[in-house]
Amino acid sequence: MKKILLLTSILACVAFANPYAKCVACHGANGEKVALGKSKVIKDMTKAEIVTAMKGYKDGSYGGPMKGVMKPQVTSLSDADIDAIANQIGK
Ligand code: HEC
Repeated sequence: MKKILLLTSILACVAFANPYAKCVACHGANGEKVALGKSKVIKDMTKAEIVTAMKGYKDGSYGGPMKGVMKPQVTSLSDADIDAIANQIGK
């Protein structure tokens, strides 16, 4: 039981330290996938383009037909999280 609790908290820390973790399912571990057959390959976007896109999903100024999928992904992210993701994934 203790081991399970420890493992859970380690996983929680990893998820907390890596704001990109929840994006992997759709965009791939390195941003190499076309999410749901619709998005750009985000690893080919520049850091600035990723920041613009994510802030735009937040305030409604960016997006294509599936922007409704992205909005809930970004609403809980801080500007620092967004910068961290752009630095990790962008070129
Ligand atoms: C449920 C699947 C899903 C998840 C999870 C998801 N995305 Fe997306 N993402 C999409 C789709 C679909 C689009 C295209 C939306 C549109 O039409 O504008 C997209 C678009 C984007 C774009 C802009 C690319 C473009 O086509 O203009 C960026 C950047 C991005 N996502 C980053 C992220 C990040 C960072 C996360 C995690 C915080 C994330 N996404 C989580 C599905 C997802």
